[in-house]
Amino acid sequence: MEVKIILKIGNVELKNQVVLAPMAGVCNPAFRLIAKEFGAGLVCAEMVSDKAILQGNERSLSMLYVDEREKPLSLQIFGGERETLVEAAKFVDKHTNADIIDINMGCPVPKITKCDAGARWLLDPNKIYEMVAATVEAVDKPVTVKMRIGWDSDHIYAVENARAVERAGGSAVAVHGRTRVQMYEGKADWSIIKEVKDSIKIPVIGNGDITTPQEARRMLDEAGVDGVMIGRAALGNPWMLYQTIQYLENGTLADEPTPREKMDVCMVHLDRLIKLKGENVAVHEMRKHAAWYLKGIRGNGRVRDKINNFESRDDVAATLYAFVDELEAQKAEELSAV
Ligand SMILES: Cc1cc2nc3c(=O)[nH]c(=O)nc-3n(C[C@H](O)[C@H](O)[C@H](O)COP(=O)(O)O)c2cc1C
Repeated sequence: MEVKIILKIGNVELKNQVVLAPMAGVCNPAFRLIAKEFGAGLVCAEMVSDKAILQGNERSLSMLYVDEREKPLSLQIFGGERETLVEAAKFVDKHTNADIIDINMGCPVPKITKCDAGARWLLDPNKIYEMVAATVEAVDKPVTVKMRIGWDSDHIYAVENARAVERAGGSAVAVHGRTRVQMYEGKADWSIIKEVKDSIKIPVIGNGDITTPQEARRMLDEAGVDGVMIGRAALGNPWMLYQTIQYLENGTLADEPTPREKMDVCMVHLDRLIKLKGENVAVHEMRKHAAWYLKGIRGNGRVRDKINNFESRDDVAATLYAFVDELEAQKAEELSAV
């Protein structure tokens, strides 16, 4: 079947406009593959430190692993110094299966910004130009940037910064409509994303507070962006990705998943995490994901509490499915009473 190309980043062709946002502690191959199976046009990996890559840190190197089925995929690096950033980009370019190298200019946490990395760059378009140009020069894969709109409300240089990326040879920018100081508070300002879109020719991906397929449509229409990036709304809810893809394609809304469907995907997620990290780490990591998969299901509190104390995969599975059996029995009873 011929695949229609909707969005192109450098030489990388995406089959739709929906991108899974990079999320540290979440976007490893287990979740990325699920997002891909739910149709995401592009998936982004969690950020990796340039210095950790160069030091050969085992955990960081393992974060560079890309399964063939996840492609196209974007690997994100962060750093504050030109030399290490470029060397790390070269490593990713030569030794990984990623399609795109993304530079993080949005991370707001002090540990990162103190090292002149992440959102710190947003105060200095010249630095952005130099760093991106040096990276683009050194690698073959397309280089993109993910940024916030500015440092604080007095320092919003989104347009200057995006122009610097474009002049430096960057292939796309993703813009999260918040400042660094906002962290995750307040509302993402999509009007600044529109200003960025109106100022550059390379693709712009809009990000921040897209919680429904209709909001994704609104971001595309109001900001005029080339693609939408979805983060928190996909946590425990990869259905949101395919619902958005379908809605953008033909304006229809796919059904919400049943609790059993949610638990089935939750278990696929856990089993993939186990393959990746071993049962002990995976079951611990799964606590937050299970809470996300359970969100919105009536009476989920008890199950969450239980899962937070489990160490084994089979305990998690037994509890989730016992919960679903109970819900289904309740529903059947309610229906028969009508
Ligand atoms: C748990 C979590 C981890 C994140 N990690 C990263 C990261 O590694 N790199 C990055 O550029 N942004 C990161 N972000 C920011 C998201 O990519 C995105 O910009 C932000 O959540 C806003 O989009 P949303 O409203 O769709 O969630 C993270 C966000 C969350 C919630």
